[in-house]
Amino acid sequence: MDTDLIGPDNPLGYPAPYWFLVFFKVLGFTLHMGPMHLWYAGLLVMLLLRWRGGAHAARLSGRLINTMPVIIAMGVNFGIVPLLFTQVAYYKVFYPASILIAWPWFSIFILLTLAYYGVYIYVIGLRRDRLSPLKQAAGWLAAFLFVVMGFLFSNNFSLMTNVGGWAGLWEATNAGGATTGLALNTADPTLWPRWLMMFGLALTTTAAYTVVDAGLFASSEGEDYRRWVAGFALKLYTLGLVWFAVTGSWYIFGALRPEIRALLFGGPMVILTTLTALGPGLPWLLLLAAWRGFDRRLALLTGLAQVGVLACNAVSRQVVQNAELAPYLDVTAEPVNTQWGPLLLFLGLFVAGLGVTGWMIRQVAKAQRQPVTG
Ligand code: HEM
Repeated sequence: MDTDLIGPDNPLGYPAPYWFLVFFKVLGFTLHMGPMHLWYAGLLVMLLLRWRGGAHAARLSGRLINTMPVIIAMGVNFGIVPLLFTQVAYYKVFYPASILIAWPWFSIFILLTLAYYGVYIYVIGLRRDRLSPLKQAAGWLAAFLFVVMGFLFSNNFSLMTNVGGWAGLWEATNAGGATTGLALNTADPTLWPRWLMMFGLALTTTAAYTVVDAGLFASSEGEDYRRWVAGFALKLYTLGLVWFAVTGSWYIFGALRPEIRALLFGGPMVILTTLTALGPGLPWLLLLAAWRGFDRRLALLTGLAQVGVLACNAVSRQVVQNAELAPYLDVTAEPVNTQWGPLLLFLGLFVAGLGVTGWMIRQVAKAQRQPVTG
């Protein structure tokens, strides 16, 4: 029964070799994670800062939220890359999972649209220096919706590998044999720590970003502001680090199947596991140094180190995903029928997309040099 629900073979085969598909899936997810973390945990943190913090806190909050519309646009577009490659390489499990969870999954379109509007409404208030209670409520609602969407993403991607749980979910949610699409993967022990672990990591990315912003983009702000940001970032990163360590341990030692845990700690994989677990220590040390004496170089290094943390995380997740699926299917063994046209078109558009993103970041950097009221 478990395997009955797995999708049938695609007679066309993979349009590109597996290594190509998985490389862009992991690269795309690394690129998605950076901006996604800034709206996942960052928006909430910035709203809290404005609500409870002093003048510097309000300034930092204003700076980050002011750029949020561009950050969301970038993160959503980067998310398309891993989604595309998940659908191509993991179609046999991605589609059945997203059919079981169809309505919550589909609701992301609506929730994201509402959250996007919420952020715009807040930003308009911020720019006009008139944050009415309604505009503030729109910001809080957006932050809440992003956390809910993160939960739905964790649901679908954990359900995708929880093949053994599909039949039970289908039985619980079908009407006359047809699935209602109302399932959630809440009975899967990996779901909760996975969702929370990503939130902890998002706190660390937010902390690293505040220092990158202060060091590279905030030339109009004073030295006092930069010192304050360095202290704040260190505290926030420490919170994220502890959160990540606790939920990550729960995930690995309390939720993963024993054979997957053995894989993570055996052979050469132990190196990647160690890098993934201890990696956040490097940005933390750099933040400690920045707190003792802030300079642009440290800010840049912190940003780069955090990208390394995200990349290690993305690779480890990929290894776990394949291992979880191993009893049901071997994603590396599909026939390949290379389709050069779409492949070259993708590569061309990907490079062009990165170019446009670089241009957007330059524009934001320029706008960021203008002081923001708040
Ligand atoms: C609508 C545009 C978006 C697309 C196309 C997208 C795409 C993706 C993809 C493909 C993954 C899984 C990557 C992998 O495992 O290889 C992912 C993971 C994730 N995304 Fe997004 N995303 C989008 C928006 C969002 C939003 C608005 C949030 C809100 C917080 C979000 C939060 C997450 C989280 C938390 C994960 C990790 C889920 C897990 O595996 O536990 N994404 N996203």
